[in-house]
Amino acid sequence: MFDIQEIRSQFTILNREVNGKPLVYLDNAATSQKPDSVLKIWNEYYTQLNANVHRGIHTLSQLATEEMELSRRKIQKFINAEHDFEVIFTKGTTEGLNLIAYILTQKLKKDDEIIISYLEHHSNIVPWQLLCERTGAKLRVIPIDENGILQLDYLDEFLSEKTKIVSVNQVSNALGIVNPIEEIIAKTREKSDAYIVIDGAQSAPHFEIDVQKMDCDFFVFSGHKMYAPMGTGILYGKQSILEELPPFHGGGEMIATCSFDGTTYAGLPFKYEAGTPNVGGNIALGAAVDFIEKTGRQNIQNHENALLEYAQRQLLELENIKIYGEKAKRTGVVSFNLEGTGISSDVGMILDKMGIAVRTGHHCTQPIMDFFNIAGTVRASFAVYNTFEEIDLLVEGVKKAQRMLS
Ligand code: ALA
Repeated sequence: MFDIQEIRSQFTILNREVNGKPLVYLDNAATSQKPDSVLKIWNEYYTQLNANVHRGIHTLSQLATEEMELSRRKIQKFINAEHDFEVIFTKGTTEGLNLIAYILTQKLKKDDEIIISYLEHHSNIVPWQLLCERTGAKLRVIPIDENGILQLDYLDEFLSEKTKIVSVNQVSNALGIVNPIEEIIAKTREKSDAYIVIDGAQSAPHFEIDVQKMDCDFFVFSGHKMYAPMGTGILYGKQSILEELPPFHGGGEMIATCSFDGTTYAGLPFKYEAGTPNVGGNIALGAAVDFIEKTGRQNIQNHENALLEYAQRQLLELENIKIYGEKAKRTGVVSFNLEGTGISSDVGMILDKMGIAVRTGHHCTQPIMDFFNIAGTVRASFAVYNTFEEIDLLVEGVKKAQRMLS
């Protein structure tokens, strides 16, 4: 039974006021709020368990290690990875993507090609541009149409034996568009030996993820967008690939032996986890997975889709509003502008005065903004604790902004 009030009662922060009004938090694509159960586990780690992991024989170190490894196994199950050691703790999606771009350097040479899409976040653009600078490879970008839908004919055209990497997001952060990654992966496998990287930052909080069924080589996501603390994230990579590729950071934990004559590397996952990890955060990420599983992934998806549909319907009843990607399959995000009413941040400020938190601006996706010839959008993004009443308040706020700004 899906009980929205019961879910909301698990998030203390939702009781607070902002600017004298009850908080309406609609900036979940930037970061979600954290349930009390996650904060409790995080707090318990620091009050009861704090010790470094994998390197002490004392009790606290062993307990902390057990908890962090238990969390790794929960995440393995959450994304259906074949092995727990294919799950690498990172500090977020950005680190995951930079790590992949770095360790693939030796696999690319001049004039090889990397395919991404127009819908990518800067974190799935810039690491590949840097890789191109290091190797002389070239970036090819799958275009979109006026609805924000990827033009996959171009993928067919781009794919060749020169293609070494295909990296796309499953869901666009700026527009919420759900990309046909099954089709992209199938086409890529058919026509090339490219590594396939999926940016799951905006899909992991909303969808069932099955990396084996998906048949991607890498899948990255952030913990903080899925009810876990900031500074947490996951890089999934296929065992054979991670075993073959070189390490990223050098340091403690990632070595098997170290001498001045040379170093040998630890096995997975430690080869990619140099230095002291975010132990408390990583354990709390496991608690966030527990929260999602307990709430039910299908329940979460159904509720968020209903919110999105309701929001879009209500907003489209207003005049002079443009929703980007209106006709595309979307999840969790409605991104819009009020025609003739100035810049998105003006709307955001008026909403903020009403206690409503949205994000405005380019959302770290300047190429999408350039495509639509705009500076930014107003983006409302949903999580499981949002309500239909909050959407009504958003719509009231948008009407007020229209009155004030026109
Ligand atoms: N990438 C995050 C967003 O879309 C921060 O807001």
